[in-house]
Amino acid sequence: MIPQPFIHDLLDRVDIVDAIDRHIPLKKAGANFVACCPFHNEKTPSFTVSQTKQFFHCFGCGSHGNAITFLMNYNGLSFVEAVHELAAYVGMQVPSQLGAETSSANFAASKNVGDHGYQADVSKQELVSTLDTVTQYYRQQLKTSEKAIEYLKQRGLSGKTAAHFGIGYAPSGWNNLEAIFSSYESDDTRGLLLKAGLIVTSEDGKQYDRFRNRIMFPILGLKGQIIGFGGRVLDQGEPKYLNSPETPLFEKGREIYNFFSARRAIREANSVVVVEGYMDVIALWQHGIENVVATLGTATTAFHLQKLLRQTDHIVFCFDGDKAGRKAAWRALENGLPLISDGKYLSFLFLPEGDDPDSYVRQCGKTAFEHQLSQAIPLSEFLFKELCAGNNLQTDEGRAKLVHDAKPLLRQVKASVLSFMLINRLAELSGMDQNELHDILQIKRIAKSPVKKKLSRRQPSSPYRWIILALLHDPSYVEKLDRNLLVSLDGNNPDIVALRALVEFLREHTHLIENKSSTSLLTDLHDSPNIALLESIESETLEWGDTIDIEAEFVGALEKLKQMQRKKRMTELHSRPLCELSEQEKQELQRLAML
Ligand code: CTP
Ligand code: MN
Repeated sequence: MIPQPFIHDLLDRVDIVDAIDRHIPLKKAGANFVACCPFHNEKTPSFTVSQTKQFFHCFGCGSHGNAITFLMNYNGLSFVEAVHELAAYVGMQVPSQLGAETSSANFAASKNVGDHGYQADVSKQELVSTLDTVTQYYRQQLKTSEKAIEYLKQRGLSGKTAAHFGIGYAPSGWNNLEAIFSSYESDDTRGLLLKAGLIVTSEDGKQYDRFRNRIMFPILGLKGQIIGFGGRVLDQGEPKYLNSPETPLFEKGREIYNFFSARRAIREANSVVVVEGYMDVIALWQHGIENVVATLGTATTAFHLQKLLRQTDHIVFCFDGDKAGRKAAWRALENGLPLISDGKYLSFLFLPEGDDPDSYVRQCGKTAFEHQLSQAIPLSEFLFKELCAGNNLQTDEGRAKLVHDAKPLLRQVKASVLSFMLINRLAELSGMDQNELHDILQIKRIAKSPVKKKLSRRQPSSPYRWIILALLHDPSYVEKLDRNLLVSLDGNNPDIVALRALVEFLREHTHLIENKSSTSLLTDLHDSPNIALLESIESETLEWGDTIDIEAEFVGALEKLKQMQRKKRMTELHSRPLCELSEQEKQELQRLAML
């Protein structure tokens, strides 16, 4: 038995797209990835992998599951073998039930091996408080280090700004943290510091501080807790920035610097500015521009974009004007295309070559930077500018190349109005007719019929299915379900049977309700007799963009159920002669008729 919390953590860490792509190359198709199904013979791909929902589904043969299931089926592994393989891939150690931890490096894990071998939360809590202690220490050190203060001053930072961002200083020397933790010699403490990425083990087995003689920028997680650091050298040393390694708390490709603190400013401005560096965020803040975040030295991933688009309608990417900056912007555009819906928009600001937001705002001030922001070019303009670059549109060949290059990009756009506009623009540039372009690009025209009608074709066929979908999407919906409503339903309908089983399961496993992991709930339900039906319902979501309002659908489905129940009860009462009804039943009938 491998403990369930570990399985969850593992699936949270693994990206199913990575895991499958290593075995069968996946191709991007809209929001999902596709390939020819490895589990049955086919020539056109119907094997679909959802990155946001972390499961695969084959529309041809119905195979369905998560990263573990995939490895089991694809490589013929047992469950335990598949878990071990995935864990090795992401560098996690599978806890043994007996608590027989052998790795000397993994002190913390061995401490937390309890009866069931794994307690993720306890150790995360301990990691957070360890990072907290160290942050306090670094901040304290900043106050007494002339060198560090001088450096920040020379970069124009005020004391208030440094305090706002919790900036500190890790002094020179190899073992400063030893003095901070009185229990440093104990395996527990040392294990925690290792796990938190604060100390490193050398080849001869000795431990030393990871961050030395660096300005320290604490990085906060979604709840505002410290999850890692970025550390900058004061002089010309390498690497310029050293970040925390991947830890149970910190995943570089997912985190966004200043996201927690900027959330309010982002919502108020209804826009967010994405810059490249820590110092860019900080300098802009000092100049009164607060809706600013940065990725941590990585490209802007779909994951980052989703997180930001959930907070705001408008993202402005502010990159350097050089070649690297344009490349970074193009990556962001590619990742953004499938994610934008109508009403959301991305734009791009390229500062004059040689400047970054930090240097620009310090030199030219807030107003000038805001002016630059207002001049940011919209995604559509950037897209066509890049596509046309180096392409002679005076020639047929040049225009054909433009259409050819635009095709895979435009096909990814889900937002129907935007898609329409982009095709219009492409028609202008290529001299082709819009209708011809629609055919060539194989993009459906916007339906003439009302949107509502169009949606209803894709909608799940019953309100029960909507409720199941909502629960799979966010288990906490179970708390809004009225028990009585379910009890009275017809027990022969398979949708209802599956819904009941799901609700029962959630009420027995309440920890899943709070735990908003990205792992599909079906992972925990693989033994359920209703699994096939639940899987097919889950797979319906694959064909959606992010345009579905689950909350509204859930409320709508509940209302529908209530109405159905009301009608059923009325029919029941009406079927009996009025004189046989009790006084209470008569009143009930009257009340029901009024609703
Ligand atoms: N970065 C990193 N590791 C590096 C270099 C950069 O993680 N070795 C990340 C950091 O988040 C950094 C960002 O990439 O803030 C941008 O790096 P760069 O443009 O090189 O530096 P600046 O932000 O301009 O840094 P500074 O102004 O401090 O020189
Ligand atoms: Mn800079």
